[in-house]
Amino acid sequence: MELVSLFSGCGGMDLGFLAAGYRIVWANDFDSDAQQVYSTNIGRIDPRDIRDVDEDEVPDCDIITAGFPCQPFSNAGNRRGVKDRRGTLYEECLRIVKAKKPSVVVFENVRGILSIRDHTGTKLMDQICRSLEIEISPGYNVDYRLIKASDYGVPQNRYRVFLVAIRKDYARTFTFPEPITCDKKTLALGNVLNSIPKDAKNQIDWPLSPQALYMAERIPEGGSWKSIPYDQLPERFQRIHRQMKKYRSPNFYRRFSRNEIIGTITASAQPENCGILHPVENRRLNIREIATIQTFPHDFLFNESKISGMYKVIGNAVPPLLAQIIAEEILLQVPELVKRDLETCQRWAI
Ligand SMILES: C[S@@+](CC[C@H](N)C(=O)[O-])C[C@H]1O[C@@H](n2cnc3c(N)ncnc32)[C@H](O)[C@@H]1O
Repeated sequence: MELVSLFSGCGGMDLGFLAAGYRIVWANDFDSDAQQVYSTNIGRIDPRDIRDVDEDEVPDCDIITAGFPCQPFSNAGNRRGVKDRRGTLYEECLRIVKAKKPSVVVFENVRGILSIRDHTGTKLMDQICRSLEIEISPGYNVDYRLIKASDYGVPQNRYRVFLVAIRKDYARTFTFPEPITCDKKTLALGNVLNSIPKDAKNQIDWPLSPQALYMAERIPEGGSWKSIPYDQLPERFQRIHRQMKKYRSPNFYRRFSRNEIIGTITASAQPENCGILHPVENRRLNIREIATIQTFPHDFLFNESKISGMYKVIGNAVPPLLAQIIAEEILLQVPELVKRDLETCQRWAI
């Protein structure tokens, strides 16, 4: 099963598809941090801006995967959607799908994409589905779903939208796998941190700013900035505290406890935006810890000399375990992909 990977990042999604038995024939990402991690752990990656890549340069394939940039749709960002230049990159995915006509297409994005509208006022997801269903010949049967990663064994309450499109000649629509029953204790943060071998590499954290450290020192396990008495809060937080309604009662500096499932690990890794504080030590979770929460294996290596870049690429990634579950489900529902692969292998053997 030959796979073309667009917006590959450091390879979270690709790692899951590799584990399910797919072969990556071309990958692309223009970010140097992502390229470095990808080439160390997975293989070759084309470093160009996808907008400069001609469709003819992309090899034929059975499947195209793409986690196109999510900042324009993210609730953590300013949600400029398609007005942001990065918000139209889905068109690059459609351009390449149109040229290659793979059997299956997989897109992944943040929850915010569900409510974004394009310049005509049409919901962006409807527009993307319409393009795949009608504007590309022979067209695709498309389904998408908001998935909570912890429902599939990932120790993180991460919500992401997955779209799976199967070319119409296969005459079927993808059915998303049912959630797996997981023991909450297994997914709890303390258990995940304890699972990391003492000698695992990349146990290095990005130091907190002096103000973030001041905050961390006053927040108990399971607390947040709201645990700090008002008179000890820095001026900016006091201002927000006085106008909680206006600021919609933000949950800054959430410090998850060891017996909770952690929230989304984000690319920014700022304690204001995500629960990145260690449950009992006054520091950020380190690179290996967030990689483990994202289900990267312990021998997947990151670049310690580009530390903030590593938080970015890990936070951006699809948890490999979740990708693997989707990848395996696709093989179950489109077994023709496996059959064709076996035939190719037999031809090579002769
Ligand atoms: C959400 S991340 C993808 C993460 C990936 N799916 C994973 O599982 O690791 C989006 C990626 O798109 C890349 N990107 C953004 N604009 C691009 C462009 N114009 N050309 C190539 N890559 C681009 C970014 O560098 C980023 O790594």
